[in-house]
Amino acid sequence: MEKLILVIVEAAVELVPKEIRDHPSVRAEARRRGKRVDEILLDRSYHHAAMKNLPENWKRGRPDITHFTLLEALGSPLNKLGLLETYVQLRDGHIIWINSETRLPRIYERFKGLIEKLYREPVVEADEKILLKMERKTLKNLIDELKPDLKILLSEDGEEIGWKKLGKLITSHQKPMIMIGGFPRGDFNPETKKHADKIIKIWPTALEAWTVTSRILCIIEQNLNIQQEDNDRRRP
Ligand SMILES: C[S@@+](CC[C@H](N)C(=O)[O-])C[C@H]1O[C@@H](n2cnc3c(N)ncnc32)[C@H](O)[C@@H]1O
Repeated sequence: MEKLILVIVEAAVELVPKEIRDHPSVRAEARRRGKRVDEILLDRSYHHAAMKNLPENWKRGRPDITHFTLLEALGSPLNKLGLLETYVQLRDGHIIWINSETRLPRIYERFKGLIEKLYREPVVEADEKILLKMERKTLKNLIDELKPDLKILLSEDGEEIGWKKLGKLITSHQKPMIMIGGFPRGDFNPETKKHADKIIKIWPTALEAWTVTSRILCIIEQNLNIQQEDNDRRRP
């Protein structure tokens, strides 16, 4: 395996949609944070009441899932070795690329601030390096661009495969892509499923996205025999 591509798909990250910007809970949060109602992220922990009539509301307003999942992925040994490329596909038609060297804010409110900033300025740079980049792009556009040689969608409704076999399958490809849902409940869109060569479950019941991320990366690290003493490959 040359590199693993990880995509958090259908991530529950979006700006507060127009139809609920006047709701008192949205106004109150915007005021508290000193922002306009059209510049803040939809967040169920603040906008629960406002969200009840939004279509597919059970899949929306959970940027914390993407935050935890990214911290898990970027902090993994696989990423530290430069073997991971990470993307987030937002449900509103954007894709964010995250440089593997980016140190994301640990504090959730700061993470939200960073994503909100991307909607205004789609590239974040530091020391002449691009750290994050947001573009209007579909999952299909991303796949056409990256040309993965295997696309696995992880889902509780997938086919069950033993962890060893799964690790072997993934690492025997040069540029495999793993897709994990960045939403709390419900099923993937048919459009997402269509892109998967295989839909696989790693546990008999539903797990949190960040737990699935940590397990799949660990399965791959073990299969590649990445160990603590693997100093040669370690980034300075
Ligand atoms: C909280 S779940 C979303 C719930 C959804 N019913 C599901 O599992 O498809 C978040 C994501 O974690 C992954 N996931 C959760 N449980 C899984 C399992 N048992 N096997 C493989 N992937 C799983 C899927 O990618 C899922 O979209």
